[in-house]
Order: sequence, then structure tokens, then C-alpha cells
Amino acid sequence: MNFELNQDHKVLQDSVRDFVNKEIKPLAVKIDEDHAIPDELVAKMSEMGFLGSYFPEEYGGAGLDMLSYAIVVEEVSKACGSSGVLISAHTSLCSNPIYVFGTEEQRNEWLPDLNSGKKIGCFMLTEPNAGSDAGGTTTMYKREGDEFVINGSKTFITNGGYLGTAIVIASFDRSLKHKGISAFIVDLSSPGVTILKNENKMGIRGSYTTAFAFDNLRIPVGNLLGQEGKGFNIAMDTLNGGRIGIASQALGIAEGAFERALAYSKERKQFDQPICEFQGIQFKLADMWTRIETSKLLTYRAAWLKDNKRNYTMDSAMCKLHASETATYVTKEAMQIHGGYGYIADYEVERMYRDAKITEIYEGTNEIQRVVISKLLLS
Ligand code: CAA
Repeated sequence: MNFELNQDHKVLQDSVRDFVNKEIKPLAVKIDEDHAIPDELVAKMSEMGFLGSYFPEEYGGAGLDMLSYAIVVEEVSKACGSSGVLISAHTSLCSNPIYVFGTEEQRNEWLPDLNSGKKIGCFMLTEPNAGSDAGGTTTMYKREGDEFVINGSKTFITNGGYLGTAIVIASFDRSLKHKGISAFIVDLSSPGVTILKNENKMGIRGSYTTAFAFDNLRIPVGNLLGQEGKGFNIAMDTLNGGRIGIASQALGIAEGAFERALAYSKERKQFDQPICEFQGIQFKLADMWTRIETSKLLTYRAAWLKDNKRNYTMDSAMCKLHASETATYVTKEAMQIHGGYGYIADYEVERMYRDAKITEIYEGTNEIQRVVISKLLLS
């Protein structure tokens, strides 16, 4: 067993860290305040290859692996959870299903623009009344000649506000339940797509979370992804990979908060000594670090399993479950170590606390992760 990153992964980690410290860290407060990631930053992250890290170079990707992708999302999220989820939702939930389930023609048509960041990708599964019950989709489609016509609504769509490329999940016959569901690749600048609103959220405020309506959205039949009636399976497979991305985001947020708490505990003096001299603070730091390290082991292992073409369904649910709960725990403790200053925006741990909470909720609430894990344990 080798728990060390190899030389390539270490070099990548160093270069992402440098980039994040120069380009993202100084902007993180403003991104939260403005509810937007500057377009120039998205362009710079694209130039770095962050938006196509593990796809082959022939499709405009960086040709790296899943572990590299996890490292990129983790390092970016140390400074800015919003930027981390932009990369994660784009890569795992949009480019990945096109790469895995798309035809060669679809890969060539859609992936270069996604991998270069010319288009930002999103995944349209969730609806106002179909969240955890993903099979309950009421967005409907029918075929008319050489087109599919889609009607319905979608909500909580990460990256939706960019109006780039989407994977849309819709049903042709609700009585067939999940077997009536198909997946489509959609250009969101098409007529028939309306943004209803961009949500005003507690955290990851720089990331778009958008509600949409589809009113007779017409797409070519060639935009069907995979087989008709297999869209639910495509969605589940996509989410299995997506959960490694969210775990990496959560891990990064936790590490970012820990770094600040550790540094602050050495600087801040009370009762004539740095507060890190108090065992109460030391115990907190020990618990925070232990949870971070276990999250990292689970997350990197899930990425390794995916890279090695092993089954990773349970592992991705476990790393997402554990890393997200670690992120909320660590950021809360980091605020506590900062005392009153932790509640002030300038110290940034309050933003990290707000950013962390969503990782327990999206890409399947943690209750859903427990369902996935326990089903597999009992099967
Ligand atoms: N991996 C692969 N296949 C899976 C699977 C998984 N994790 N879970 C279910 N399936 C397959 C089953 O094998 C079965 O396939 P067949 O019909 O071919 O045999 C099929 O899916 C149906 O299985 P179930 O009957 O078990 O499905 P279910 O309806 O009971 O649902 C569920 C199971 C786990 C609860 C599922 O609905 C689920 O994962 N829900 C959560 C959805 C979710 O994560 N939503 C987040 C959306 S994305 C987001 O957060 C927004 C964003 O932009 C970031």
C-alpha cells in the first residue's frame, strides 16, 4: 500500500496551490459579497486546464486522472467554495456523462467547448417536487419528427446562470417510473429556455443556483444521450462520480478553515499565552485534523477506484458523507477558535462555515448517501 501522492500529483498540487494563492484567495471575500465569480477568473481557471482536467487531450481536456481532478477541486475550495463547485458541477455532472455515455460525434461536438471553458456545464435533474426522489421527474418530452420537444421546470441548478451546456433529465411516460426517463444534451441558449431566478443563498454565493422553465424547448434527436429509457441510470452513474467532486470541495473547505484556525490559535493571546497552549484548543485541533485526514483518505481512495475502473459507488457516497460532515464540523470549530472574530466576515471562517453546509445537501442529501451505502451493505 502506498499512501503517497506520486511525483506528477505533487507537482500538480504545488502548481494549483500557487495559482490559488495568487488568483483566487485575494478574491474570495469579493466573490461572496458580489454573488459572482469574475469572468476573468473563470477564464484563468480554464487556461489552467481546471475545467477539463481528466478528459483526454483529443477532446481538449488536460489528459490527467480523477485523483488530479480531486486535487484541483480541493485546492481551489481551500480558498473559495464557490469556485470549487463551479469546477466540480461542470466536470462531473456535465462533461463526464457526455464523455462516458456520448457517441464519438457527441464527444467531438460538446467536449472541446466545455473543456476549454467556452461553455460552462450543468446538470438538470432536480425539480421543485423531485429532489431526493430523482425518479419522480415531471419534465416531459416527446418526439416530433427529427426533434425532441421538452416541457417542464428544473430547480437548484448549479452553474445554470451561465446558460451554457446542460444534461437535462426528462420522462416520456411517467407510468414507466425510472424506465421512462431519458437524458439529453441541451444548449441553454436555445429558444424555449427561461431562467426563472438565480437563488439568493446562505453560502457558495458566488455560484449560480438557478431555476428554469422549458416551454416547447426543441432539440435535435441527435442530442439524446445514451439510450432512450436509460436516463435515470445515466443520472445515477453521473452522481456517483459527482460525489467525489463534492467530497473534494468539502475537504478543501475544511482544510482552508483549519489552516486559519491553526494560525490564529498561535497568534491570539489570552491570559498571557497563545490560545493554542490551552488543552481545550489543542483537543479541537486534534479532532479537526483527524476528521480532515480520514476525509482525504476516503476521497482519494474513491478517486483512485474510479481511475482504476473499479466499482466506486459505495466509496463515493462514503467520502461525500464523511467529508461534508467534516466540513461543517471543522468550519464550526474554526469559528469557535476565532471567538468573536470568527463571526466577522474579514476573518473568512464564517464564509467557510456558510459554504460548507451545502456539501451535506447537494448531489444527494447525506440521508441519500446513507441509503446508497446501506443498500449496498445489505444487498
Ligand atoms: N449507481 C448506479 N445505479 C443506481 C444507483 C447508483 N448509486 N442507484 C440506483 N441505481 C439504479 C438501480 O440499479 C436501478 O437500475 P435498473 O433499473 O437498471 O435495475 C435504478 O437505478 C433504480 O434503482 P432504485 O429503484 O434503487 O431507485 P430509487 O428510485 O429507489 O432511487 C435513490 C434511489 C438512491 C434514492 C436515488 O433516487 C437518488 O440517488 N436520489 C438522490 C438524487 C440526487 O442526488 N440529486 C441531486 C441532484 S444534482 C444536484 O445536487 C444539483 C447540482 O447541480 C449540484
